[in-house]
Amino acid sequence: MRRAPHKTLVVTSFAAVAIVACTVSPSALERGAGRDDPSSPGTEIVTGPNGNPVETTATGLPCDVDKVLKTRCQTCHSAETKYGASAPLVTHADLQKSGPGASAGKKIYELVSERIKDEARPMPPSPNPLLTADELATLDGWIKAGAKASSDTCTSERAGDGVKPLSCKPDTTLVAGAKFTMQPGAPLDQYVCFGVDINLPAKRHVTALAPKVDNTKILHHILLFQAPKSEPSTPTACSAFGSAAWKLVAGWAPGGNNLELPPEAGFPEEKGVTHWVLQLHYNNALNLPGQTDQSGYDLCTTENLRPNDAGVVAFGSTRFNIPPRATHAIRCDYTLPSTFNGVKLFNASPHMHTRGSAMSTHRLPGGTGAPEKIFEMPNFNFENQANFPITASVAPGDVMRTRCTWKNPGDATIGFGEGTGDEMCFDFIGYYPNIPDRTIFGLPLFTWITPSQSASCTVE
Ligand code: HEC
Repeated sequence: MRRAPHKTLVVTSFAAVAIVACTVSPSALERGAGRDDPSSPGTEIVTGPNGNPVETTATGLPCDVDKVLKTRCQTCHSAETKYGASAPLVTHADLQKSGPGASAGKKIYELVSERIKDEARPMPPSPNPLLTADELATLDGWIKAGAKASSDTCTSERAGDGVKPLSCKPDTTLVAGAKFTMQPGAPLDQYVCFGVDINLPAKRHVTALAPKVDNTKILHHILLFQAPKSEPSTPTACSAFGSAAWKLVAGWAPGGNNLELPPEAGFPEEKGVTHWVLQLHYNNALNLPGQTDQSGYDLCTTENLRPNDAGVVAFGSTRFNIPPRATHAIRCDYTLPSTFNGVKLFNASPHMHTRGSAMSTHRLPGGTGAPEKIFEMPNFNFENQANFPITASVAPGDVMRTRCTWKNPGDATIGFGEGTGDEMCFDFIGYYPNIPDRTIFGLPLFTWITPSQSASCTVE
């Protein structure tokens, strides 16, 4: 662990971005106060509603098309592509090129038209919302009319880099003890884990968590867990599925969210040792040589403890059988015990494995009331796990109903577990006040996994 080791540059840009983000109204363009602009050092630059520079460009594309690509695609499909995308989608010439690899027989604009409507592999990928009907019509209309060049000069906000600034200044960085190096000829997808032990003389509260993205060329997603024991601090190859003993606290994939806790609560780092574990997913789609990475998570912590400890609990199930060659959905009900009195929910991190396709959690007030949606992800994708802010209050006697849907294309029945052949159905929910673990004669009575273990499930 390193505490407050940020280079001045990083801290200034975080602070400056936070100021810009706070003062810009969604419709207005304002002057960014002293924000660094690598292209013209020292000059003031104009930023848009999302805090990114506004620029005037002529890309050979009509402005409405340019705007959709900038705001919805170029976080990844930038001139120098990021997060595993192979084709830039910036200029008219980019769209006229032949597709990459197996798609070489088609033009990029034809692939764009296909992928924005592709239900199985839609663009933009989750956790980014799908294109709106208007955005889709803009791209599709232009493509249908022949994807013609335009002499438009467009003034619009540049695409963000996918990581939003925090409203606080991070003081703790969870990164591996050494850089990860991608070996030449390595498999396309690689999963690497490392542990960071935080040893504190007095308790602190974690008030916000943000991904710390180092190498955008190979990073695909980051998951942040708390573990019951130390894990090696150097990046070590690990299962894509982590360990069933790890509690998911936050996750990020390009387009995903930071996690800022409500002002009444903080995740405790108790006096003594807290074990964090991070899993990084790398994808070297472009087969680039010599890539290294030291991504992780930035935390804001405080010794001025907030009124409540926050906790994480998993709704879902640890008992299911997914039949072969089937789409299978289960509905699992858990009745909240008296310990959930006054509990508020603020975050959802859905977690399934590669066959997971949808997840939702609803609350049935008093156990029999009409279901209220707490969280719904109709297009779950293992490769793009992230956390999502939610707001809900619950009470003892309420039923939490979590649905998990899988598509099992294989010939074997799949059950719960942490291996390649196994699946999961956990909706990790951030909540407060924390319900302490309880044991009786060393046996667990209530821990984060109890709601999933004791839920009663029905096949839908
Ligand atoms: C969060 C990052 C991200 C965003 C945003 C995104 N894509 Fe992609 N895109 C990818 C990745 C990664 C791939 C390669 C894997 C695949 O094909 O699914 C890809 C592949 C594609 C391909 C196939 C050609 C290629 O580059 O491999 C097309 C076409 C495409 N995206 C179009 C779009 C369009 C159009 C948008 C915006 C409406 C968009 N994408 C937004 C990440 C992104």
